[in-house]
Amino acid sequence: MKHLLKLEDWSTQEITECLNLADQLKYEQKHGIEHKVLKGKTLGMIFEKASTRTRVSFEVGMTQLGGYPLFLSSNDLQIGRGEPVEDTARVLSRFLDGIMIRTFKQEEVEALAKYGSIPVINGLTDYCHPCQVLADLMTIREFKGKLNGLKMCFIGDGNNMMNSLIVGALRTGMSISVACPEGYEPPQNILNFATEFEGKFEMVREPLEAAKGADVVYTDVWASMGQEEEKKLREKAFAGYQVNQELLNVTNSECMVLHCLPAHRGEEITADVFEAHANEIFEEAENRLHAQKAVMVKCMKDEK
Ligand code: CP
Ligand code: NVA
Repeated sequence: MKHLLKLEDWSTQEITECLNLADQLKYEQKHGIEHKVLKGKTLGMIFEKASTRTRVSFEVGMTQLGGYPLFLSSNDLQIGRGEPVEDTARVLSRFLDGIMIRTFKQEEVEALAKYGSIPVINGLTDYCHPCQVLADLMTIREFKGKLNGLKMCFIGDGNNMMNSLIVGALRTGMSISVACPEGYEPPQNILNFATEFEGKFEMVREPLEAAKGADVVYTDVWASMGQEEEKKLREKAFAGYQVNQELLNVTNSECMVLHCLPAHRGEEITADVFEAHANEIFEEAENRLHAQKAVMVKCMKDEK
């Protein structure tokens, strides 16, 4: 059974196949070519955190594929009242053909896959955000014509986005430099993963050092969902970790700027840089739809 629990689980070939399928599905959607390849399938979408892009793109994507998306807020599910994930997984497997889940703990996503008998897709955890990164890679390829050999840099928190971008960039032949303040580095297992790609990964303190010669600059909020109480502390820690014109002065010319959104102008990115790169950032947001349709087809389409 194919799941998307974290990007580490997908090989370079699987990622590339998914990006190719995403391009094809985007073409078909833009040209009015019907592609209802998941006709009759139902996707349950469990949300334990807020969402604009993930919810709407999965819901619209599943509909375009001929299937039915079922929104399940954890406020309404028994899971919110303590029903074990092991039981939820076994029950939902009898009704649904696939589950997308956005939650806090990565272990919960892994447990759904372990105890259930249908494909599970990770729609963000505290640890990773693989669907977002597939859309990001699709967008970079669309604008730059390739991934291999490009340099990405990530400025800010060693969070779910940084984790998945490190994996996605390295698996597709990009190099990646990250700049984060002390105490906000990615977890050890991600650093271990990166050491397998010699010379392609660096972690530094100084944003200008990470951005030097970059083809793609990426940033994300300083305080993620669930970290609202740390907001003030984080504002202090991340002062100076901003994507602004000074930073773009040391990148390659024609450098792209990406942001998973939602963005906080004046914090991790200045309003002028955001607006100057809005065409890239909103194409990236749109590509969530196409990339996730490809993920659903890869995971949920019946094998012939
Ligand atoms: N980038 C992203 O996942 O957006 P949402 O939180 O709105 O789904
Ligand atoms: N790091 C952010 C990403 C939102 C899409 C969060 O987890 O809130």
